[in-house]
Amino acid sequence: MTAPDQDKAAKRAQWEEINRAKAQAKQQQKEAAEQAVRQPAEPKKQFQAVKGTRDLLPPETALWNHVEQTAHEVFARFGFGEIRSPVLEETDLFARSIGGETDVVAKEMYTFGDRPAETLSMSEIAASLGNYARQLISFFDRGEIPQTASNRGLIEHLKIKVRDLGEAYKVIEASKKTGIGLQLAFAVGNDILLEIGSTVNRVVLGPSLTMRPEATASVCRAYIEHNLNQLPQPVKLYYMGPMFRRERPQKGRYRQFYQIGAEVLGGNDAPAIDAEVIEMVMTFFDKLDLPGIELDINSIGHNAPDCRPKYVELLREELRKVKDQLGPDSQRRIETNPLRVLDSKLESEQAIIAKLPHIADHLCEACATHYADVKNQLQLRGVIYRENWRLVRGLDYYMRTTFEITAKGLGSQNAVCGGGRYDGLVELLGGPPTKGIGFAIGEDRLILSLEDAGKVPTQQGRDIYIAWMGEHAYAAAVRAAKLLRDAGLSVELPPTELKFGKALERASKLDSRYALILGDNEVSEGMFTLKTLADGTQEKFTEPDLLEFLQAHRQ
Ligand code: HAM
Repeated sequence: MTAPDQDKAAKRAQWEEINRAKAQAKQQQKEAAEQAVRQPAEPKKQFQAVKGTRDLLPPETALWNHVEQTAHEVFARFGFGEIRSPVLEETDLFARSIGGETDVVAKEMYTFGDRPAETLSMSEIAASLGNYARQLISFFDRGEIPQTASNRGLIEHLKIKVRDLGEAYKVIEASKKTGIGLQLAFAVGNDILLEIGSTVNRVVLGPSLTMRPEATASVCRAYIEHNLNQLPQPVKLYYMGPMFRRERPQKGRYRQFYQIGAEVLGGNDAPAIDAEVIEMVMTFFDKLDLPGIELDINSIGHNAPDCRPKYVELLREELRKVKDQLGPDSQRRIETNPLRVLDSKLESEQAIIAKLPHIADHLCEACATHYADVKNQLQLRGVIYRENWRLVRGLDYYMRTTFEITAKGLGSQNAVCGGGRYDGLVELLGGPPTKGIGFAIGEDRLILSLEDAGKVPTQQGRDIYIAWMGEHAYAAAVRAAKLLRDAGLSVELPPTELKFGKALERASKLDSRYALILGDNEVSEGMFTLKTLADGTQEKFTEPDLLEFLQAHRQ
């Protein structure tokens, strides 16, 4: 065969292959369509709240609002101002402050990699890897993705490969015209695309972000970021809002839960500050009438060789002697974090733990004095506490004072508040040396405990239900609704006409106090009939008299 004949044959073979592929794709589409017709439609999926999260609904939300309003009032009286910080923070903020070995950081955080807003969608990336690579190059050059050494290397590589890809396309186009070397050109192009694919996969598109598992680290970050150390010290802040931890859900333990917390940052570490913070949270619980609360306190010393580290070593030695009698978790903790063994709830370990040395007997002099003073200051304020030498808390940033408050009606998850001193934390996060102490209340648990104590929220009724009939009456009803709402009354105005009997039935169901009856008679007389639903009595009023009567009989 001559060279032109060979070329023609190759082209024909290529066309045949393309046509075969097209026919196959068409057949597959047809079969998929037939299959879809044959299969019964799947029932529509019903969505539910994500595991460990829940909706809070009326009337319960009224209790939540009451709790939060009380917190605003009590904390303001102690001179605290509110901070609202973002739910998302850089992952490192929590890793560094809470501690990489803690359960919260090691297992429970909701973390994801961020990316620039205009990143191509998956289908766009699939359609053109080359465009995606060009996009990443321009993101990097504009500083929109992390300027790390690794990203820089990958981007440089991408720049070369994108250029190569452009050249390969040119060769493909030329080969299409001449019909020579087309397969080779495609193969080269494919190799470059594969290389680009594996490189773009390794570019880090944005910082690692985490949905806050707690807010102390965020408050410290804000203190540093906004130079709050320039304000009169200490700075006293409180917050409330959702936190996120991937825990096994059970009563009083959720993956999205709510905390009400407060932090005192800056100034000195006077024991009076520790005591006042505790007094504030106890006052708050008191105002809410939360029964059966118990306050446990402890001091875990500080990180100097003659204080906590010395005790930790002693504890480790004692634990090694009884290692065989401990469960696997505690056995592991002997080496990683012996203090956490004291937290153990395992029944079989309790008698062994009871015989371990107490940290209070091994504090350095300064910490021992601080602890004694905190106790004196609590007594001065009439705050009743119990010393609990096993209270070590699960987050790494604590030193000296730690405390926890338990409440009734919560089962095993009965800690309704936890807190303590964390003097080194701001410095650890890159700020100036700063004293710090605070607490966080689990609001979900607080509400559960209040409900258990019988503080069940009642359904929110209405002051007035307007029963109207007729077009003219409707116009009067709309005006009356505005007037009464402006006067501070809660009003239900049915949007469509109801027979009076039906309207009164609805009014009772909504727990309304009065029904305001507006029919043709009332409109022509310019009067309002007010029915008291509790006793069925009714009376006619002019507009000013109606307002006066309702104001005088407010509940
Ligand atoms: P924490 O002990 O981890 O401390 O949490 C404080 C409170 O939040 C707990 O006592 C509990 O009531 C509630 N809580 C924790 N996890 C859950 C959950 N999964 N479901 C429901 N409630 C939960 C802290 O968060 C520290 N930041 C407290 C602090 C502030 N220390 C100093 N300042």
